[in-house]
Amino acid sequence: MTDDRPHDLFEAAREAMAKAHAPYSRFPVGAAIRDTDGNIHAGANIEVISFPEGWCAETTAIGHMIMAGASRIAEVAVIAEKLDLCSPCGGCRQRLAEFSAPDTLIHLCDAEGVKKTVRMDELLPLAFQTETIG
Ligand code: THU
Repeated sequence: MTDDRPHDLFEAAREAMAKAHAPYSRFPVGAAIRDTDGNIHAGANIEVISFPEGWCAETTAIGHMIMAGASRIAEVAVIAEKLDLCSPCGGCRQRLAEFSAPDTLIHLCDAEGVKKTVRMDELLPLAFQTETIG
């Protein structure tokens, strides 16, 4: 079961961060998603020499979740080696929101574990959403 400070999710994010390919920013990030079935999907940021073509840890983790056949996020942990409480960027907030509920939890970490938890609707208030598209 999950609690307010899920250490398994933190550890999965930290292990993923060790696989970051971030030779340009030298800013490794790890993210781990627990889907609503309880399974964990992790990812790291992956950069390329054409700088805008890289992507974030959260995006890698979402890709793994989708390819595993899951689609709903219960909670996410994010860790960055060089920034305590690293918060998902704007683009990743929208990507996470696509697969989240308003009460999906986003756990921000330091080197020791989860240090701050916010809800998706706190992380991305006034999110872009419309029934016009789908
Ligand atoms: N980055 C992430 O992976 N997730 C975030 O939430 C913030 C930023 C990455 C993108 C880039 O590879 C590096 O951190 C520096 O911006």
